[in-house]
Amino acid sequence: MSARILDGKAVAAKIKTEIRREVEGLKAKGVTPGLAVVLVGDDPASHIYVRNKERNCQELGFNSQTFRLPATISQDELLTLIQQLNADPAIHGILVQLPLPAHLSTEKIISFIKPEKDVDGFHPVNLGNLLRGEAGMIPCTPAGIMELIKESGVEVAGKECVIVGRSNIVGKPLFHLLLQAHGTVTVCHSRTRNLAEVTRRADILVVATGQAGLVNGEMVKPGAVVIDVGMNRLETGLVGDVDFGSVLPVAGALTPVPGGVGPMTIAMLMKNTLKAAVMLNK
Ligand code: GUN
Repeated sequence: MSARILDGKAVAAKIKTEIRREVEGLKAKGVTPGLAVVLVGDDPASHIYVRNKERNCQELGFNSQTFRLPATISQDELLTLIQQLNADPAIHGILVQLPLPAHLSTEKIISFIKPEKDVDGFHPVNLGNLLRGEAGMIPCTPAGIMELIKESGVEVAGKECVIVGRSNIVGKPLFHLLLQAHGTVTVCHSRTRNLAEVTRRADILVVATGQAGLVNGEMVKPGAVVIDVGMNRLETGLVGDVDFGSVLPVAGALTPVPGGVGPMTIAMLMKNTLKAAVMLNK
């Protein structure tokens, strides 16, 4: 037996076709979705992600503005830029690429974005709404993971869901989405004792730690849905947090790296930007 591959690229393409159709309708009313991306410093991975976001905006007919700023920018200068973007009616989504240089306060900067334009869903208001199960912007990677789980055909309700990794970007928001879908959710992290024992219980296993190949076939329950959020650039190429070769014969469904969660994250960002453009022009 070999796991079914969950083709994030194909699912993302379907979502983008739908977005393109909706954008045409919105443009007929005189509104073009606009995304501002703020990139500080010269982290090579961040530059790749941001170029990808620009390319997707072009493909879908969005306006995009990228602000590439030196790592030496002051917090006040950055807050002034965000204030301008908050007030700009042509901009519906604002994304500050993370991580930021250490002298900048990520919390302060994210909290400065108007919640309605926070297409990352990282603002405390949006995270609070997520916790309460109310409408708001949902963080893109967790939203994309939920779509891929749906694609696997496995119902979340009543299932054992295990998340490895407790980041603000993935693990914590995903916990709430799986809980809302009626899963029984466990979050593991670096202090978890006997990780394999916990991961082997999972019907749905999501790995988001940034450690290449952390989860192998012996840590996976036969037939489980395994979602790999890792993007580790090694000399041998891009690999996930899941050891693909040993998990493939054990899992029921598995996301590849690249071509799994990554394209879904971008599709969800585009969807959030479209949603913001619609809401801000109501
Ligand atoms: N860095 C890594 N993932 C993300 C993300 O989803 N959003 C932003 N803004 N930065 C990131």
